[in-house]
Amino acid sequence: METLLKVEGINVYYGAIHAIKDISFQVNQGEIVTLIGANGAGKTTTLQTVSGLLRSKTGSILFDGQDINTVSADKLVGRGLAQVPEGRRVFLQMSVEENLEMGAYTQPPAGVPRDLEMVYDLFPRLKERRSQVAGTLSGGEQQMLAMGRALMSHPKLLMLDEPSMGLAPILVEQIFDIIKDLNRKGSTILLVEQNAQMALSVAHRGYVMETGKIVATGTGAELIESPEIKRAYLGG
Ligand SMILES: Nc1ncnc2c1ncn2[C@@H]1O[C@H](COP(=O)(O)OP(=O)(O)OP(=O)(O)O)[C@@H](O)[C@H]1O
Ligand SMILES: [Mg+2]
Repeated sequence: METLLKVEGINVYYGAIHAIKDISFQVNQGEIVTLIGANGAGKTTTLQTVSGLLRSKTGSILFDGQDINTVSADKLVGRGLAQVPEGRRVFLQMSVEENLEMGAYTQPPAGVPRDLEMVYDLFPRLKERRSQVAGTLSGGEQQMLAMGRALMSHPKLLMLDEPSMGLAPILVEQIFDIIKDLNRKGSTILLVEQNAQMALSVAHRGYVMETGKIVATGTGAELIESPEIKRAYLGG
């Protein structure tokens, strides 16, 4: 299996706070890999370091065979690394379609209409609302829009930070179905979640984070069955 992302020995600080403590993990082509952990474990910090918004003082981050430790976040989008941030962050004043077009800023304009159709096929709800202002969408619709916008950049790796946060159970199911569907169609996904049950049930492999460290790893099935993981993260 080809390695798409290889993170080795990274350490990240916020001033004096040592948020990420020497972690290593990898994502292979075609996988869904999840990072799970409680509030403050360091999941978002890890994603932001991979996407170039934060920097590690040590170690290396290889993406698609190249060291990206010092590459800027906007350049990384052009190289195929897309992040859907925690809390969605869509452009609230813009329409659904304008948001999607913004996601295509690294792409040749000629392909944009075709990519819009691809996103609308995946999220029919967005098609119905293509001219609606994003600020008036529901939370679930905003999540779909944020994912659609990321897909417009043709990512080799799609990183999702808590896509299920704040959504009703039925919408959580829908979002996870879409994640599985995207993966079946060839997308490689790094999924950060507090909803460990759902995340482990769709992921090929997972890593468990606790206070800045990776404390367990295995296949999704292995982690779901592990007594310690059950006790700490799965309510049983
Ligand atoms: N900008 C910041 N300044 C100082 N400390 C920060 C900052 N952002 C995060 N931290 C701290 O770093 C640690 C890791 O935070 P992070 O946001 O990565 O956690 P998380 O696993 O994503 O949590 P959650 O599930 O609540 O989103 C926490 O202790 C947090 O308080
Ligand atoms: Mg977070």
